Amino acid sequence: MNDYDETYLDDLDFYEEQLSRSTRQRKTAKRKQNSRPADAAEVINLAAGVTMTYVPARFEAEWLKASLASFYTDEMISDVTASVKGGKEASVYRCKAQPHTGETLLAAKVYRPRQFRNLRNDKLYRDGRTILTPDGRPVKTTDHRMMRAIGKKTTFGKQVSHTSWLMHEFTTLEQLHRLGAAVPKPFAVNDNALLMSYYGDAKTAAPTMNGVRLEAREAQRLFAEVLRNIELMLMQGLIHGDLSAYNILYWEGNVTLIDFPQITYAATNSHAQEILRRDITRVCEYFRAQGVASQPHQIAADLWTRYTESNPVEDLMPTTI
Ligand SMILES: Nc1ncnc2c1ncn2[C@@H]1O[C@H](COP(=O)(O)OP(=O)(O)O)[C@@H](O)[C@H]1O
Ligand SMILES: [Mg+2]
Repeated sequence: MNDYDETYLDDLDFYEEQLSRSTRQRKTAKRKQNSRPADAAEVINLAAGVTMTYVPARFEAEWLKASLASFYTDEMISDVTASVKGGKEASVYRCKAQPHTGETLLAAKVYRPRQFRNLRNDKLYRDGRTILTPDGRPVKTTDHRMMRAIGKKTTFGKQVSHTSWLMHEFTTLEQLHRLGAAVPKPFAVNDNALLMSYYGDAKTAAPTMNGVRLEAREAQRLFAEVLRNIELMLMQGLIHGDLSAYNILYWEGNVTLIDFPQITYAATNSHAQEILRRDITRVCEYFRAQGVASQPHQIAADLWTRYTESNPVEDLMPTTI
């Protein structure tokens, strides 16, 4: 058995425990609508009869069907045709879209069960961020039950934090897509998965830029396009937080920025300036290898001054990350 399977087994134990717990809870307490994240056991029931051309690994099947069930029942997708990429934190699948979406294919990003306990709860990113509920609203800090659960990292608390990461990604995509940023269009979200526009074709998904070599002219044009997006985000007070060639897709001569759960708020995160500098430095490193020279620190400093000067971060900490 390889590492991957072992992690899966481990995850599934945890997930199963969570499922049986939520079933038990249902017997004693009637679920209040929208008062907590969707019940995974209910989702499992919905998964019955789901069509899936893609044949998942043994341990993946139930989890995957449960995670995508709402996209089937809401008639967003009719099939899952392939796994695009399985990562440590999330896996992305190519799905057949229902015609009314206006797309032929869609990408479903499904967070691994591991996320329930091994969250990207890096203090660096949570700093100054609100917790978002499944409907995308911030949790009130006066909701003591919720805050205590999150603080104590109970199963419920972990689910709340997990949902919050996903909702940050989804709401950010909505906002940026509306503003004309080069990001996937988000179509739907549930408490474990996100559905968005897919880049690639029926056989191959778009590569991430780290595996792409560019001609000098194209490199120049795409560098400018990535910077336009960084600037557009910063105009909204947003910093990607994990930007690099690994999180930029390249398809038909265009770039698309992906992977937004670590979105950082310039006005409230005290490390925002260093996070911006790191994002820009990584982007510049890739483009330097493609023949485009630049001064990342200068670019970051200029952008920071232009868009955040009027709204300085309190107690900016001189950290190195
Ligand atoms: N909308 C999309 N269309 C095509 N491929 C995608 C899309 N979104 C993600 N991918 C692929 O899935 C991989 C993982 O997605 P990403 O959002 O970066 O999650 P993570 O890095 O946290 O696992 C990406 O590196 C990319 O190869
Ligand atoms: Mg990524």
